[in-house]
Amino acid sequence: MTVTLTRTDPEGQDREALIAFHTSAEFPFHVRARPGRADMERVLDAGTFRDEDHESWWIDDHDAGRIGLVVLEDLQEPSPLLDLRLAPAFRGQGLGVVALRAVTDHVFRAMPAVPRLEGQTREDNIAMRRVFLRAGWVKEAHYRESWPVEGGPALASAAYAVLRRDWETGTTTTFVWDDVTLTD
Ligand SMILES: CC(C)(COP(=O)(O)OP(=O)(O)OC[C@H]1O[C@@H](n2cnc3c(N)ncnc32)[C@H](O)[C@@H]1OP(=O)(O)O)[C@@H](O)C(=O)NCCC(=O)NCCS
Repeated sequence: MTVTLTRTDPEGQDREALIAFHTSAEFPFHVRARPGRADMERVLDAGTFRDEDHESWWIDDHDAGRIGLVVLEDLQEPSPLLDLRLAPAFRGQGLGVVALRAVTDHVFRAMPAVPRLEGQTREDNIAMRRVFLRAGWVKEAHYRESWPVEGGPALASAAYAVLRRDWETGTTTTFVWDDVTLTD
């Protein structure tokens, strides 16, 4: 499986494709699980797919074709945040980890000023959480009751990150969670 990234053109030829990608699928672990056309028109007009804070790329598999999309936000901050989405037909086949590795490679190669890359997902999105771990990302936070859920209690958001220096050396460094305790 080889995937490549193609920068989107949200103000030009990709506007309709971005709307179709989101409105034809369900994203059960996102705050807006079924975005409508009006939602998409609004986020496109707001520059969510490309402006000084955002970039986005289609994810293309050599054999399967266009399998998904990745959006980076907070590009002016030291830790950009990613949102990775596969189209429903390509979920559950192990492509998520291939895509995340390709995105990590791309960001660290193309953006030399980025020292680390972050992602957050809902606590029950086990597939995404396993994808983060398989790609060598490290869990750094568990924000309890921070993810609003329509019609139910809020869930936690789990935050993962990868460091450029780990990516460069092919290692996964971690840290001591309970480095300060009351028993010291
Ligand atoms: C989240 C997503 C990227 C995961 O990619 P994927 O290729 O579909 O992931 P897979 O189905 O291969 O699952 C990854 C792993 O989780 C496991 N898994 C999946 N669902 C699971 C579940 N409900 N319980 C336990 N394990 C589960 C898989 O068995 C696999 O295990 P492995 O690490 O041993 O191979 C993809 O499903 C997707 O785009 N979903 C919609 C958008 C989304 O939620 N994006 C996250 C926002 S950051």
